[in-house]
Amino acid sequence: MAQYVGAVDQGTTSTRFMIFDHSGLEVARHQLEHEQILPRAGWVEHNPTEIWERTRAVIETALNKAGLHASDLVAVGITNQRETTLVWNRRTGRPYYNAIVWQDTRTDRIAAALDADERGQTIRRKAGLPPATYFAGGKLQWLLENVEGLRADAEAGEALFGTVDSWIIWNLTGGIDGGLHVTDVTNASRTMLMDLQTLDWDEELLSIFNVPRAMLPQIRPSSSKDGYGVTRADGPLHGVVPLTGVLGDQQAATVGQVCFTPGTCKNTYGTGNFLLLNTGHEIVHSENGLLTTVAYQFGQEKAVYALEGSIAVTGSAVQWLRDQLGIISGAAQSESLARQVEDNGGVYFVPAFSGLFAPYWRSDARGAIVGLSRFNTNAHLARATLESICYQTRDVVEAMEQDSGVKLDVLRVDGGVTANELAMQIQADVLGVPVSKPVVAETTALGAAYAAGLATGFWANTDELVRNWNEDRRWLPQSDEASRAKGYRNWKKAVARTLDWID
Ligand code: G3P
Repeated sequence: MAQYVGAVDQGTTSTRFMIFDHSGLEVARHQLEHEQILPRAGWVEHNPTEIWERTRAVIETALNKAGLHASDLVAVGITNQRETTLVWNRRTGRPYYNAIVWQDTRTDRIAAALDADERGQTIRRKAGLPPATYFAGGKLQWLLENVEGLRADAEAGEALFGTVDSWIIWNLTGGIDGGLHVTDVTNASRTMLMDLQTLDWDEELLSIFNVPRAMLPQIRPSSSKDGYGVTRADGPLHGVVPLTGVLGDQQAATVGQVCFTPGTCKNTYGTGNFLLLNTGHEIVHSENGLLTTVAYQFGQEKAVYALEGSIAVTGSAVQWLRDQLGIISGAAQSESLARQVEDNGGVYFVPAFSGLFAPYWRSDARGAIVGLSRFNTNAHLARATLESICYQTRDVVEAMEQDSGVKLDVLRVDGGVTANELAMQIQADVLGVPVSKPVVAETTALGAAYAAGLATGFWANTDELVRNWNEDRRWLPQSDEASRAKGYRNWKKAVARTLDWID
């Protein structure tokens, strides 16, 4: 009898397939990176064909490693980097262009124009999002305006739009031989094209971006028994398995961290950081620069919403130290280098490489390193980089506390950077609250597996999932109030230096 659930986690820098057992523990995984295509300053692309090939490969290899087959899997879930925008041809399966990644800022003019008139308010009210380069709608508009022949094909229903989930589902369920063209509510809530109330594409929003409805996928619940079909027998699973759970990666992490009651939140440290606060069935509009988004929708139940603080550059700032500056050879070294100094030596680094996201929403911001003196070394810069991750998190925690009126008492964390002990200690010190990490830190893949397994009855209800959650590690604040306040004041001054750079 099948006793496991699989999950594809297609992220910004890599793709993985993970297999979990009934207690939510990992049985196997395989992971592969893909190329970051940077054609110009501010542009970030992925090759959709490479993404699909990596997806195939990680599924096959993880199953082989564990000695498992399709018949051992009850269901498969999909989770993905959100907002990244693809268009492909229904008959040939060929992409029209590279995927435009969520970090890409080429649509800054489109976003700025929307905010110059009442369209910006319409998008905020209906989609819960501030007009920004981050979301898919502007990227799709750019593709329709710049790729020859695309608009005509889109109007004819030949060209399909999707976020990465749609692309993978379409390929897994049949591709040009009848693949399903669908997405889930959480991914759709990142496009600026879906109304949060109706959970459907909205004509007024579509007309703002001039997007033909014929190219859009159908929107389904995040956990759905029949919503996503089954894998094709000749695909990478080499068998027919139901696809029953689909969520954007941050929403998946929210499910993996079992944030099922209003007021619970989690912070994921990946390429960027994403803090989501469950607001229950209520659509809460932020007064402080947070997004309103769908957290999840299980089956026919009402959707659950969240407030989100999205930070574009956190883990990728550490990668920048490695790849562009060459001062570390791997992410782990950022910790040993930063530990060589007691403090930041007066240096603050604001990695506004994609502008600043929450709570500032300034696409014109650019990165800055301030406070340098001759005394400073690479170690101070490494320390300032880790601090930047934690200060950016404090910015969104402050916004969340102001919006909700509730003071955070503990921060639940997950994601790659949580392996960095120093960063997590700094986080507790910068916030003045404990930081708590679960045993299964791969909450993104786990959340997609949970959504898939709930749909099939593998897990009976969310209470069962809550019982699977166990704390692995807790960091307690060691800083005093005065130094915490001083550091944050300096951080705010550094942020101010990143604004108004572009003529
Ligand atoms: O919104 C972007 C987010 O989904 C990317 O997550 O983990 O791929 O950096 P990650």
